[in-house]
Amino acid sequence: MLLQGVVQSKAVISGLTWANHGAMSQGTTSPNSMSNPFLRTGPASAHALTHFGDDSASSKLLSIFNQGFHGASQQKRSCQRLVCNAAASGNGGNGPKMVVAITGATGFVGSKLVDRLVADGHEVRILTRSESKAREAFPERKYPGVKIGDESKWAELIKGSTGVVNLAGPPISTRWTPEVKADIKNCRVAVTGKVVQAINSAPKDERPAVLVSSTAVGFYGTSETSAFDETSPSGNDYLAEVCKAWEASARRVRRGTRLVLLRTGIVLDGEEGGSLAKMVPIFSIFAGGPLGSGKQWFSWVHRDDLVSMIVESLENPAYEGVINGTAPNPVRMAEMCDRLGAILGRPSWLPVPEFALKALLGEGATVVLEGQRVLPKRAQELGFSFKYRYISDALKAILT
Ligand SMILES: NC(=O)c1ccc[n+]([C@@H]2O[C@H](COP(=O)([O-])OP(=O)(O)OC[C@H]3O[C@@H](n4cnc5c(N)ncnc54)[C@H](OP(=O)(O)O)[C@@H]3O)[C@@H](O)[C@H]2O)c1
Repeated sequence: MLLQGVVQSKAVISGLTWANHGAMSQGTTSPNSMSNPFLRTGPASAHALTHFGDDSASSKLLSIFNQGFHGASQQKRSCQRLVCNAAASGNGGNGPKMVVAITGATGFVGSKLVDRLVADGHEVRILTRSESKAREAFPERKYPGVKIGDESKWAELIKGSTGVVNLAGPPISTRWTPEVKADIKNCRVAVTGKVVQAINSAPKDERPAVLVSSTAVGFYGTSETSAFDETSPSGNDYLAEVCKAWEASARRVRRGTRLVLLRTGIVLDGEEGGSLAKMVPIFSIFAGGPLGSGKQWFSWVHRDDLVSMIVESLENPAYEGVINGTAPNPVRMAEMCDRLGAILGRPSWLPVPEFALKALLGEGATVVLEGQRVLPKRAQELGFSFKYRYISDALKAILT
């Protein structure tokens, strides 16, 4: 069972390129929760790194393991509701004040984006599936003026906003049954379609000027040898199909609304929900070796940089079309694990065998075992300034 837990956790980490967290998506945990497994400084950090020493390692791993499956059933229920509805239906930054409507704002990326926009003096409107859970995450006293609306109010909140950011989607890091696979794709297409419909039907003078819509590096398929930039063709596997359909849905936005498609890599940061939050416990029990061969590419991005890229996409009219949301220096999985092990003072020598992953994740394991090397060519052409260009700097900033 210990091995099973380790294997599943590792799969969640790589997140099939999209690390995720069941609890957040179920709305049981605030994005700003004090239960972060490791904050940058102070006692919480120490607690996180020793957490497994206090407790039964196998039971902790089992709980991570179970979380993935629980997340999958939750995901199905919430998606059905959304699909039904879809069918029925003076700031601190440099630029002028924006009014930004965001789907997936309660998630790992979205919560940080909300904090950044609010801190910069912009108006934020949160488009969620559950107003009450979103309000828990963004309490009025801490987020005065932030509007929150469930699906019935999305169109009203989108109307009159200057930009929309579309981040919503169910977790990918679950065992892929045919049903789960269909939901992963259909929910993203449905949410995006709903957002696009609301933008397109808003009166011209109240129509958002820009839509920044998330997609993922899975678009390119997987390869151990090729490098991909925004001009590369799509892959042919399941995640490539998901991304193509997701992007196609966003491309239906009316001309006149600038569209940015952010093909996001694996987002790293310390808080609950990120891939590192799942990796650290594994290293803490000395079982953090690479998945499979370790030769597969790991195209990562620090959450701060991704949030800056989203803000830049909202503010800067030069940001248009597909932009890879990845750091300039992707690494192979083995290097990622070595660096992480070195920073945590834990060895990275126990590879998780391919057969074990395949036994657990079936088809999904193929993608965990194969990554893609994705380069942010467009962002660099646009002069985007990365705070974290190298994995070791990002990991040090997050973990020490
Ligand atoms: N994190 C990564 O490493 C990574 C990498 C590549 C791409 N991405 C993509 O970037 C986006 C944001 O990532 P994230 O890590 O912030 O995701 P996240 O933490 O899982 O949050 C996604 C949000 O989507 C909403 N959601 C969850 N299940 C849903 C469902 N079944 N139907 C409709 N909405 C649902 C939830 O918001 P409400 O409960 O408020 O509705 C949730 O907070 C996602 O679409 C993800 O696929 C992420």
